[in-house]
Amino acid sequence: MRKNQIRSEDGYKILVVDDEQGIIDSISIFLKRSGYNVFGITNPLEAIEQIRRENFDLLILDYIMTPIHGDKVIEEVRKFNKDLYILLLTGHKDLVPPLETIKKYDIQGYCEKSDNPNQLLLLIESALKSVEQVKTIKKINTELKISQDKLADAYMGTVEALRVAVDAKDTYTKGHSDRVAYYSKLLAKEINLTSQEQERIYIGGLFHDIGKIGIPDSILQKPEQLTNEEYSEIKNHPLIGAQIINAASIFEDIIPIVKSHHERYDGKGYPNGLKGDEIPIYARIVAIADSFDAMTSDRQYRKGMTIDAAKTEIIRNIDTQFDGNIARAFVKILERDRKIIEEAIMLGR
Ligand SMILES: [Fe+2]
Ligand SMILES: [Fe+2]
Repeated sequence: MRKNQIRSEDGYKILVVDDEQGIIDSISIFLKRSGYNVFGITNPLEAIEQIRRENFDLLILDYIMTPIHGDKVIEEVRKFNKDLYILLLTGHKDLVPPLETIKKYDIQGYCEKSDNPNQLLLLIESALKSVEQVKTIKKINTELKISQDKLADAYMGTVEALRVAVDAKDTYTKGHSDRVAYYSKLLAKEINLTSQEQERIYIGGLFHDIGKIGIPDSILQKPEQLTNEEYSEIKNHPLIGAQIINAASIFEDIIPIVKSHHERYDGKGYPNGLKGDEIPIYARIVAIADSFDAMTSDRQYRKGMTIDAAKTEIIRNIDTQFDGNIARAFVKILERDRKIIEEAIMLGR
């Protein structure tokens, strides 16, 4: 047995198709002696059906046959099997299939029938090495996909768990987080951020107020004006939120949103008094969505503003509270997609 040879225990199945039984017999004897699982069929039409029914790793195919030639067999096989590794056997130099046929049907190699079978054996060995590599890559791909799916499931599970926690605190501003997430994503799209970034910003919008879990309901739901101490306490929610989110490394990307959504473009916001571009762009986006929703939502003690009034207010606060470019993009959405904004607001009432 040759060194480094792939043996039959590796499970490789080779199908030899030739309309001359004598050729099949001689190839089979020779390949079996070398340790391969070999099957032979003389009728090319039968061979197509056999390949449809059974899984082979390698097809060794005669070119000139009756009732159909090898290239016709390949044409049929390729309609349902793109993976099968195919070696074409030719009887004579003049009968080599045209290069276009080889390329078109993805034939991996061809070999002249000759008295010296070693050339064919070498070709088969390298063919099986390729088959093995393709199998390994496919296996890794499947494993990767499974772990990606598991990861995605775990991520969505965590998102859901946190949503429940946020919702429990959100009763006084029903659906606020959902709407902020929604507006933020629209805005991210409007300023041409990638769909991956839009998704990140959406999740950031959902959790921007998660720190309110750490603020007493007596303050959050107080209908009267807050005292200075109470207001200071509320101002802790971005940092509390960042700390909560920080516990899950998968949410690393949205920490800047949670932490900085109350910063103002002129530097007069909290918690860090960041100014202009110092404020992460995701947070500048969510800040506008957040303010718009706060303005247009009903509260126990007041009715929500109209879209037009909120729009005027946003324009008035360009370059003071808001980043001008992002605010103008939001105004554009309000003017163009008014209907979907109205619907989002109505869902909260
Ligand atoms: Fe907030
Ligand atoms: Fe908010």
